[in-house]
Amino acid sequence: MNYFTLKNGVKIPALGFGVWQITDAELCKKTVATAIKDGYRLIDTAAVYMNERAVGEGIKASGINRDELFITSKLWVQDTGYEKTKKAIEGTLERLQLDYLDMYLQHWPYGDNIGSWKAMEEYYHQGKIKAIGVCNYTIQHMKDLLEVASVKPVVNQVECHPIFQQKELRAYLKENDIYLEAWSPLGHGVQDLLSHPQFQQIADKYGKETAQVILRWHVQEEAIAIPKSATPSRIKSNFDIWDFELSEQEMNVIRSIDTNQRLSADPADKEWEKSMLERVFDHF
Ligand SMILES: NC(=O)c1ccc[n+]([C@@H]2O[C@H](COP(=O)([O-])OP(=O)(O)OC[C@H]3O[C@@H](n4cnc5c(N)ncnc54)[C@H](OP(=O)(O)O)[C@@H]3O)[C@@H](O)[C@H]2O)c1
Repeated sequence: MNYFTLKNGVKIPALGFGVWQITDAELCKKTVATAIKDGYRLIDTAAVYMNERAVGEGIKASGINRDELFITSKLWVQDTGYEKTKKAIEGTLERLQLDYLDMYLQHWPYGDNIGSWKAMEEYYHQGKIKAIGVCNYTIQHMKDLLEVASVKPVVNQVECHPIFQQKELRAYLKENDIYLEAWSPLGHGVQDLLSHPQFQQIADKYGKETAQVILRWHVQEEAIAIPKSATPSRIKSNFDIWDFELSEQEMNVIRSIDTNQRLSADPADKEWEKSMLERVFDHF
């Protein structure tokens, strides 16, 4: 397994396991334990995924030491603001049954994010969160935060896959020594991406699956990838990417597939922002 070193010196696994949409508690617990047994060390959850408690159970069931794991959770939009964020972090720690988080991210750049950032900085200084960052920040959102942050964000988790490679944002993040973490790294499993002939050709050459080629591409681009699967065989195969390396020419073939097409919401879309701010979740 490869690790990247964040700018505050914290080591983060290059490949992690996402648990969005695994809402059934028993399944989530079992899936997290399976993923950890298969070798994953980074688990990516969020308050709004409604499964932090089950993730905590899965971590315990895995039998792996806490200090070998990298646990990420996220602050939901309705919990932004200085006081609410402190409460939200305590809730997350309690549900996960952990006394520290490896990384805590703002889920969307909406609400009182600057107030939230101050609270996150405090938890960072107390050692209760080892790394702080954001999700779904555009370059402008990043600039606004960097202007006021005394602890700089180390990660921006955004939609990223071969047909939406985030080239402009990626370059900006690199300049600022911030890692891009790719959500929907497999394009949410859409078949026209996974069965794309260019991936199939490369996959055949290495005796691999197209999903493995895509995940290998992310890691070689120095992006952290967090694929989700609730299927045991896929959980295993998605992690089996350490025995081959894509050539520069193959990397370029994949880079050329980019159509700059999102599959999900644009964080700069004001209607989306409004709908997120109006959503109500009261049972994390
Ligand atoms: N910060 C954010 O706003 C944000 C937004 C979205 C996601 N995320 C994070 O990113 C993680 C991953 O994103 P995602 O779940 O949207 O997309 P993804 O990981 O790109 O794709 C997951 C989908 O692909 C299928 N799949 C997984 N491995 C496969 C394989 N080897 N072959 C064929 N199909 C495969 C899964 O099906 P099965 O489960 O049926 O196997 C699932 O339907 C989430 O779990 C979450 O942690 C963050």
